[in-house]
Amino acid sequence: MNDAAISPPPAGAAIKNSMTRTRAQLVGYGTYLPVNLVTNDELAKTVDTSDAWIRERTGIRQRYLAAPHETCAFMATRAAQAALASSGVPPSEIGAVILATATPDQAFPATATRVQAALGVGGFAFDMSAACSGFVFALGMADSLIRSGAIRAAVVIGAEVYSRILDWTDRGTCVLFGDGAGAVVLRATDGDDSAPGILSTHLHSDGNLGDILYVDGAVGRRDLPGHLIMNGREVFRHAVSRMSEAIDEALAANHLARTDIDWLIPHQANRRIIDGIGKKLGLDETQVVVTVDRHANTSAASIPLALAAAIDDGRIKPGQLILLGALGGGLTWASALIRL
Ligand code: ACO
Repeated sequence: MNDAAISPPPAGAAIKNSMTRTRAQLVGYGTYLPVNLVTNDELAKTVDTSDAWIRERTGIRQRYLAAPHETCAFMATRAAQAALASSGVPPSEIGAVILATATPDQAFPATATRVQAALGVGGFAFDMSAACSGFVFALGMADSLIRSGAIRAAVVIGAEVYSRILDWTDRGTCVLFGDGAGAVVLRATDGDDSAPGILSTHLHSDGNLGDILYVDGAVGRRDLPGHLIMNGREVFRHAVSRMSEAIDEALAANHLARTDIDWLIPHQANRRIIDGIGKKLGLDETQVVVTVDRHANTSAASIPLALAAAIDDGRIKPGQLILLGALGGGLTWASALIRL
């Protein structure tokens, strides 16, 4: 076992790498978006809302909503297949499939095991439940497993079908979310902090804040509809402060200044939260990746979707330093620092 895997910093569960050692390198990525694109104007035909209200409050212009066949497993599998194909990592090398989702297809088996079967890979598979922070939590788990030597490579996915847990009569929440999936492949590599790889992850949760963002149901609870409930103003307040804290924590752990960062990819909840974080951290807005306008809030899928978009359009380049920041129900919040 690598000693770096058991050196927690003072706050939260954190892992910091330095010197030459085995670390997890991001070697492939892939995405899947549902075929059904719904603009704000289209949504306003069935929901008492308007394009102007949604854009002004959230920056969202459109979202993709899953058709019945576009289940969590379906979308996660498509994204993972694309990620595996782009990575060149043989399926036989994959030791784990970790699927971050708050909208699994069934209570069990874990949707990740369905994806594992579809991919034809071995190892083990499990779902990660940390709401909108799920992808960064899953990345942290996979990174630890790789650095410890337990596995050589992993598929990490964020996939969500929030359209199935929204109350479509609640205009305060139903306009905010979209469906989709994003995946990455991580592979063990040896190098120091200047080499490509995950430099650190910092994961946090505070169950005392569980009631500001939750789903009021569970499998077998026929008395509750299982809809997303949110205190938007409280979430807003915590989102800016907690994500900024986790980002600063990552910088401090790696002895870096904010000016060292090439890109910030925050969870894509809404434009005002994203702008608030960028401002609080003193980042130029051109350094902050924004996709909430086209995807809306896809929860655990939002960060891998945004990462893929910024690599595909040529903004993010090999060797650059990327900070991920997330916050979600739980509350959960997290950051990850990656050299691409
Ligand atoms: N269309 C039109 N009017 C609306 C809509 C809508 N979709 N939703 C609410 N309104 C109305 C309300 O009825 C209210 O009207 P009233 O003044 O006549 O009563 C008015 O707009 C203001 O409602 P608020 O709920 O107070 O709206 P607010 O200005 O707080 O904005 C929002 C709501 C956008 C959700 C805001 O609280 C916010 O940005 N919160 C951040 C949380 C967030 O984005 N969460 C996403 C998921 S959580 C996560 O990913 C971490």
